[in-house]
Amino acid sequence: MQCKAMISSMLIVSAAMFGTSGAALGDDHKFNFFRQMFGGGKPPGVAPVNNPVYMEECGSCHFPYQPGLLPARSWKKVMAQLEEHFGENAELPSEDAKTLTDYLLKNAADDANFKRSKKIMRTLYPDDTPLRTSETPYLMKKHRQLSPKMVQNNPDVVSISRCKACHKKAETGSFSEREILIPGFGAWED
Ligand code: HEC
Ligand code: HEC
Repeated sequence: MQCKAMISSMLIVSAAMFGTSGAALGDDHKFNFFRQMFGGGKPPGVAPVNNPVYMEECGSCHFPYQPGLLPARSWKKVMAQLEEHFGENAELPSEDAKTLTDYLLKNAADDANFKRSKKIMRTLYPDDTPLRTSETPYLMKKHRQLSPKMVQNNPDVVSISRCKACHKKAETGSFSEREILIPGFGAWED
């Protein structure tokens, strides 16, 4: 009898402890997750790529554009026409294509909880399906002060699609102004 009461009171106490420490752990966990992932600083503008197959297959010809830079409907379209991909054949074995499509759709801008992804989505019409991250209204507006001298006629840039030519930390998902260096022109002063 006494033993039973003790056990049940222990259960109540441990449940209470578990409850509170569980909640506290939840917050700590989130904090540590961001700290570990982003080295103590703010989370970046878009989630960094964390899929090695994507890094390899979609980062061999150009900067591996983060999934959070385009809506799912755009990625679907890009992945459905890889054999005619911006003038190149980027076809993949169907298994890889499926894996990468899944990865892109799961991490697309639509539901991403990152600042730039949200802005990209907010400025896009519902039936707008850009094939280029650089042709989303948000990025077109951000880049509108760049001159042809800085991009097309700049031998170290050539295309606005070469994000890394100017955004020195693009691979980490960060595109902040402080990290912009335009080859031949230097730091960006707005
Ligand atoms: C064989 C080379 C090659 C491979 C492999 C390749 N691409 Fe591309 N991709 C290109 C070229 C060329 C362009 C046009 C670049 C330019 O205009 O400067 C391009 C452009 C793009 C763009 C538009 C650029 C922008 O401004 O946003 C996206 C998005 C893109 N590729 C996604 C992918 C994805 C996803 C994969 C992997 C499934 C992939 N690419 C693999 C050659 C390739
Ligand atoms: C020729 C250099 C150059 C290239 C190439 C370039 N950018 Fe930019 N980007 C800039 C400049 C300059 C700004 C403007 C910063 C400002 O004044 O807000 C900017 C702004 C941005 C911003 C907003 C940052 C902010 O703090 O407001 C994002 C996001 C961005 N670029 C993403 C990209 C992506 C993705 C690509 C590749 C598809 C790309 N950029 C290619 C120069 C470049």
